[in-house]
Amino acid sequence: MPVAVIVGTQWGDEGKGKVVDYYASRAQVIVRFNGGANAGHTVVLKGKSYKLHHIPSGVLYPNKINIIGNGMAVDPKKLIQEIEMLKGAGIKPSLAISPRAHVVLPYHFVLDGAEEERKGGLAAGTTKRGIGPCYSDKASRFGVRFCEFIDSGAFREKLAILHPLKLRIIEGAYGLSFSRTQEDIFREYSQYASVLAPYVKDTVEIIHSAIEAKKRILLEGAQATMLDIDHGLYPFGTSSNTTAGGACTGAGIGPTQVDEVVGVVKAYTSRVGSGPLPTEITDSTADFIRNKGGEYGTTTGRPRRIGWLDMVTLRYSARINGLTGLAFTRIDTLAGVKKVKLCTHYTLDGKKTLLMPASHRDFARCKPVYREFPGWKDAGIDGWRKCAKGGFKALPAQARAYLSFISKSVGVPIYFVSVGAGREDSIVLKDVFGRR
Ligand code: IMP
Ligand code: MG
Repeated sequence: MPVAVIVGTQWGDEGKGKVVDYYASRAQVIVRFNGGANAGHTVVLKGKSYKLHHIPSGVLYPNKINIIGNGMAVDPKKLIQEIEMLKGAGIKPSLAISPRAHVVLPYHFVLDGAEEERKGGLAAGTTKRGIGPCYSDKASRFGVRFCEFIDSGAFREKLAILHPLKLRIIEGAYGLSFSRTQEDIFREYSQYASVLAPYVKDTVEIIHSAIEAKKRILLEGAQATMLDIDHGLYPFGTSSNTTAGGACTGAGIGPTQVDEVVGVVKAYTSRVGSGPLPTEITDSTADFIRNKGGEYGTTTGRPRRIGWLDMVTLRYSARINGLTGLAFTRIDTLAGVKKVKLCTHYTLDGKKTLLMPASHRDFARCKPVYREFPGWKDAGIDGWRKCAKGGFKALPAQARAYLSFISKSVGVPIYFVSVGAGREDSIVLKDVFGRR
């Protein structure tokens, strides 16, 4: 099974980095296909944690090809910082950037803030990384792709059109000031372009040669299904396709070439950003989970909203992505909660529903209906590590019952269970590359 996609099934921060890191050990090519510096993956290696925003999690292994796909919106300054951070840790990243990936430029940050402000109650609570405005420019064909970015003539030509226009929008429409001149942006960003130019390669060719050579390819999603621009909770999500379909367009491969789609499911829900969240809890259990799980944004440091796992959104996610397997995370974090609740369906206007409404206003009116499960005890770091060695059957019976119920009701098998932050703290029921 040479091509596998990994996506988040909830609202982001399910622990995709951890799952990708595991499967990446068996992959030869790892591709990020969407988003940019709005994402934050923490990968723990030998007790040291690495925060990655653009670079695929596979970079921590030697001899892998890591690809920044065409579907991404890249902040060149931040990407260089990541490369430098890795070099400082003795890791020389083998990286290829798609010439079709888009570049986030200074006016995108200003517009991100300004647009959010204007939206009032409909603001998504963005990460302010300029992602929405960059993708808006991509769709309106004002965007700057890497192939133009590294060609100084093309970059200068684009900036000459864009800069006066963006200035008028920022000053005229939003009443803000923007001190960056065209020349000053050109000078600063040309430096970034020359640092990154050696990494810009024909990623479609790299990926397809690898597919033809039957190499193992992992497509790593950022954000998650409920934040997808089409299928997520509009307008409270992000501006890219975060789902398995986005893996195809964002990397340049066809759906028939994908063999496995793994959905990462956190044992509970977390959400950074605004908008309705039917299973949200704000009591002491929420504080317990937030503190124990360190549920603060990797990118923004914001405390994450906490809730119970929601089967309505999970079932929806399984459909949208065509999930072939589930990867559960944070079983250890949820341990110690006496009664674990699982939302099996909603009621809307007094009627039972299993379906995700398109309208956020309807979603806000959905009332969760819960089924209660007895919780499980915390085994402690060593206990969980032992448990990981023992496999699925070594998990506490209550945790097994909870996970099996979820898997059965979405009709998708369990591939992976994570019981801690380290690489060792994983139970692998199925290797997506077909060894087990
Ligand atoms: P943007 O992607 O910065 O435009 O933010 C849009 C929405 O997606 C906001 O609600 C963010 O909080 C959320 N979001 C974006 N990236 C992530 C992520 O990596 N994890 C969790 N939430 C995210
Ligand atoms: Mg994250």
